[in-house]
Amino acid sequence: MRAILTGATGGLGRDVARRLAADGHHLLLLDRDDGVHALAAQLHPAGEGAVLAVTADVSDEVAVEQAVALAAQQFGGVDALVHLAGIGGPATEVVDTALADFRQVLEVNLVGTFLMARSVARQLVRQGSGGSLVHVGSVFGEQAVGGGAGYCAAKGGLRQLTQSLALELASHRIRVNTVAPGNMATEMHWEELRARAVRHGTTFETERERVAAGIPWGRFGTGEDVAGAVAWLISPDADYVTGQSVAVNGGIWLS
Ligand SMILES: NC(=O)c1ccc[n+]([C@@H]2O[C@H](COP(=O)([O-])OP(=O)(O)OC[C@H]3O[C@@H](n4cnc5c(N)ncnc54)[C@H](O)[C@@H]3O)[C@@H](O)[C@H]2O)c1
Repeated sequence: MRAILTGATGGLGRDVARRLAADGHHLLLLDRDDGVHALAAQLHPAGEGAVLAVTADVSDEVAVEQAVALAAQQFGGVDALVHLAGIGGPATEVVDTALADFRQVLEVNLVGTFLMARSVARQLVRQGSGGSLVHVGSVFGEQAVGGGAGYCAAKGGLRQLTQSLALELASHRIRVNTVAPGNMATEMHWEELRARAVRHGTTFETERERVAAGIPWGRFGTGEDVAGAVAWLISPDADYVTGQSVAVNGGIWLS
């Protein structure tokens, strides 16, 4: 399979990149971080597929179009998008949030998803070969929290965008799904807990223990957990799965 993976150098992205490379897919890794080139060089000898890298901003329309065209040209087509690129956004309450900060998180997390999905979907429709888009949302796109409205709104929007696209693209045999991680053992999550500790007047350790105690599965999640869901969603095993949000969160909705 030929896949484009965004946010490849991030805490979760690296594990997803490793898994998709090990599964033998051709990969175009995209990130705004230059480290994406070193990652591609590391992964290439490990897997059977070719691994390319592009430094680009997912909220830049021209850069997105160029990256998708490059993948199509180098691999002779594209079969899947795995879109992880995202930012945390302001950890402030709405009344204290600057417009520029609110716009920034929507621009990267929601508009970036629109641009990547639109470009890959157009390519897939032109090919007429079907395909799969996987957008990485968040537990906060399913249920909002205070002190992060921009992120929640962007990830909630991403989930709805996924459903609209799933309806629009079903007749082209293009499946579109969200993976919604939560409680990941990553810097992004620790940053959020540090901000929460400041808001609650507690400590990072207290917040971390509080979250850990609420996870039925008894541990924080990993990039491998996300990679497993992604690998399944882009595979033919998920052929009848579209428009869904697959929660990778250790069962927190159940408690
Ligand atoms: N870590 C978590 O706890 C958690 C939980 C739920 C959802 N998520 C989502 O999973 C995804 C990955 O999270 P992570 O923990 O790996 O975060 P991370 O910050 O480690 O990685 C994000 C990656 O996206 C890249 N990126 C950011 N803005 C970009 C842009 N405009 N253009 C191109 N690349 C850009 C960064 O350079 C980075 O490599 C994000 O969408 C995040 O919202 C993470």
